[in-house]
Amino acid sequence: MHSSSKIFLETTNTQPEIAVILGSGLTNFFEPQNIIKELSYTDLPDFPQPTVKGHAGKLVLGNIVDKKVVCMYGRSHIYEGHEPNSLAKPIRVLKDIGCKLLIVTNAAGSLNEKMPAGSLMAISDHINWSGYNPLIGKNQDEYGPRFHDMSDGYHKFYRDQLLGIANKTNQQIFEGIYCMYSGPNFETPAEINALKVIGGNAVGMSTVPEVLVANHCNLPVIAISVITNLAAGMNKTKLSHKETLENASLAENNILQLIKNFITEVTFDDSSGNN
Ligand code: HPA
Repeated sequence: MHSSSKIFLETTNTQPEIAVILGSGLTNFFEPQNIIKELSYTDLPDFPQPTVKGHAGKLVLGNIVDKKVVCMYGRSHIYEGHEPNSLAKPIRVLKDIGCKLLIVTNAAGSLNEKMPAGSLMAISDHINWSGYNPLIGKNQDEYGPRFHDMSDGYHKFYRDQLLGIANKTNQQIFEGIYCMYSGPNFETPAEINALKVIGGNAVGMSTVPEVLVANHCNLPVIAISVITNLAAGMNKTKLSHKETLENASLAENNILQLIKNFITEVTFDDSSGNN
């Protein structure tokens, strides 16, 4: 068990059931009265410190109706210069402290004009074009096998429940394939054209490392992209992090309400998770 897991369990005396990772520009997950405990990443030795604007750097435990939920306010990215392996640790901490389901969010560019800024996309699969993998190196056998399966990487059992809840609450949501590019630059128009040809629907600089590690340690995961822009070359404006943050915060209410509705109603799959 990681030392951050011990610190979390000793400080909170709670094993949360669900974990959430907030992507760029999403900042307000819990209502203040529902927060039980906040731990800064500076007090959690296994959490790399985020260096990017829009990523707060704290782990917050709270209540969503009758469920205990832990939320990572901010994440680190490979382009910040963190060792890819170091991105594995926070996810393994979430597993150590008892989470049975992980919900990852991110900001992403769209590869399809019909999925404009402000849309939500449930990720059905990914293409790892980052050139990195946080699992390269000696395998941590206590968390999972050397070679792990990724054929249901974005767990269909939970993804179907998410889509069902979106449908029930009239929240439009797309479904599609997320391509990870390392950044820190936005892609070139030629790279975007190539991603369209190989079957991508959205592009971003995160999520894939966390999803790989979660699947390795048998922590079921779903992921939702907030579309903040059409990808490079698809319209005349220049891409910027400012636009990402502004458009993510415009969609914040929609995505967070959807996640809270999902958390309230989700049924756990007792045949998977928690090995
Ligand atoms: N590309 C990569 N990452 C992103 C984008 C994009 O167009 N938009 C938000 N994050």
